[in-house]
Amino acid sequence: MSERTPPLRISVVGCGYLGAVHAASMAELGHEVVGVDTDAEKVEFLAAGRVPFFEPGFSDLLRRALDSGRLTFTTDIAAATGAAVHFLCVGTPQRRGEYAADLTYVEAATSSLLDVLGPGELLVGKSTVPVGTAARLAERVAERVPGAALAWNPEFLREGYAVQDTLHPDRLVYGVPALSGLDGTVDAEALLDRVYATIVAEGTPKVVTDYATAEMVKTAANSFLATKISFINAMAELCEATGADVKQLADAIGHDDRIGRKFLNAGLGFGGGCLPKDIRAFMARAGELGADQALTFLREVDNINMRRRIRMVELARQVCDGSLLGKRIAVLGAAFKPDSDDIRDSPALNVAAQLQLQGADVRVTDPAAGDNVRKHWGQLDFVASPEEAAENADVVLLLTEWRQYRELDPATFGKVVRTRRVLDGRNALDREAWEAAGWAYRALGRRNA
Ligand code: UDX
Repeated sequence: MSERTPPLRISVVGCGYLGAVHAASMAELGHEVVGVDTDAEKVEFLAAGRVPFFEPGFSDLLRRALDSGRLTFTTDIAAATGAAVHFLCVGTPQRRGEYAADLTYVEAATSSLLDVLGPGELLVGKSTVPVGTAARLAERVAERVPGAALAWNPEFLREGYAVQDTLHPDRLVYGVPALSGLDGTVDAEALLDRVYATIVAEGTPKVVTDYATAEMVKTAANSFLATKISFINAMAELCEATGADVKQLADAIGHDDRIGRKFLNAGLGFGGGCLPKDIRAFMARAGELGADQALTFLREVDNINMRRRIRMVELARQVCDGSLLGKRIAVLGAAFKPDSDDIRDSPALNVAAQLQLQGADVRVTDPAAGDNVRKHWGQLDFVASPEEAAENADVVLLLTEWRQYRELDPATFGKVVRTRRVLDGRNALDREAWEAAGWAYRALGRRNA
């Protein structure tokens, strides 16, 4: 932090995945930060430097921040009193039985923050919310604390890269009130620039806009990413029907830099705590706004995505000679993607559970998600290693492309299975090497041998 931008006192309300990483990152940038969460166990964990989730690099960052004395955690919202900037980082899950987002935590956290917010201070929303939420919360702020202000500053972090994405984001987006900084009101842009001084100094692109645009940037970005994945998975369906190869197709179209190769990996599709719920909440909000037609394509994006899971189960049945009953199946991967222990809406677990329901003897393994699988999917047989999962297996399914699975030696690994059959649900294995070691290789959207 430069001499001209002295550190700020910052509070971060909600210390889940987003909030915990944000709080530690703000301390890393030199600010004095208090993280507040209603979950006493989580607070105790974080305060002791323990990380309640798997995130490469976060443990070191947290430890550094705690050791510096600039980061504390508490359950007491009063500790946020007097901070110049208060970040709202609570979750917005999908409502049960509906597409819409559940704003219970946003409302509750805002209510408790309004009790401590002072004039001249800035409340900053980072949670992913339906467009229109910030304007509504800004009215509550104006009524309760004249002289305070609200900004919306969406977060684009990816699990597995959360630290890097927070400290070196590819853009900053500030949604600020129309007359921000005029007539003695809080200058939200200037204050956020002070928070992110180091990041701004790196020349990070910045978009300063209204609330609605800032809110939509997040859901639009996630919808675009989901669409890109479902596009290539729709192409995979066609490849399966025609004998074409989706991986080569993706490489070829990806060379056009207007299209780009990123997020064109065909396979089991997207899961996790963001893309699925965000596209659904976006559709629900469009419906409320009378603009549902604009997003009907997202329903198809969702459908394509879910069909891949069904197709994977069918493919497993096919290679098991038409019946799953009593077949021993190894599932490599349970997290929704590698370098994460997050199993929310995990395509891998969805497939594993369907196979088991249809009579297969399924063994699941994952390098990081074991505790979560045992806790939430007790009916699945979870084992520690790929070798245990594959012992006497009739078929091996790669469903999350962890590096340690991509690097398995197919010849050695082949010794534990009953039959050398592999289904590559992520198009991530070296097909030639596996075939050379005598494996029958099948994948979504790929030519059969
Ligand atoms: C996503 C966004 O990338 C991030 O910007 C936003 O802040 C939160 O949501 P994340 O949920 O961590 O991040 O995962 P991401 O890396 O985007 O992957 C999402 C899913 O898509 C995973 O299940 C992944 O396996 C799948 N995926 C990704 C594909 O199936 N194919 C691809 O080419 C890329």
